[in-house]
Amino acid sequence: MRDELLETIPEFNLIADADLRERTIRTWELAMREGGWTLAALARMPFSLLINPCPVNFIEHTRAVAQIAIKAAEVFADLYGDRVPVQMDILISGGILRDVGKLVEYEEREPGVFVQTAAGKMLRHPFTGVELAARCGLPVEVQHIIAAHAEEGDKVKRTTEATIVHHADFISFHAVLRLGQGKNLESRIGESTSR
Ligand SMILES: [Fe+2]
Repeated sequence: MRDELLETIPEFNLIADADLRERTIRTWELAMREGGWTLAALARMPFSLLINPCPVNFIEHTRAVAQIAIKAAEVFADLYGDRVPVQMDILISGGILRDVGKLVEYEEREPGVFVQTAAGKMLRHPFTGVELAARCGLPVEVQHIIAAHAEEGDKVKRTTEATIVHHADFISFHAVLRLGQGKNLESRIGESTSR
């Protein structure tokens, strides 16, 4: 399962610090166990229940957000240098894990149809994601990215890393949202009918 996970989300391997990388992987594995997910199921899970049908799956969105965040940080490094420091390992770990709580927020109610769990309605993924990450010993800087990545974090003073991940997430979310906004909080993978 570990090898398959790293093949599916190779961005884990971009975390240079071995301990942080291991804790990041363990958090994902823990969330998969708690939610009873397989990687195949995650590949048919829409990344947002607000978009139905959703043309992008949970794995693809996770990878896109991590990669967009990395590229933004690279631009900062090129143009701003040390004046705007970015902790790349923290950024990548948070970029991968910011939505990991969805593995306990969502369930597959029937084949291909995804909805919020009863608990997920009360504790959205920023909260459950922090809890999962804390149990795996991830540093508070990564927990902060998870906590503040979505609208729950709008009143939080985000770190540079959390700011980048937040916007990377919304670049993907808003670009895809306009393709098919659902009326109910459920979704399935599929081609969009409106542009
Ligand atoms: Fe999210």
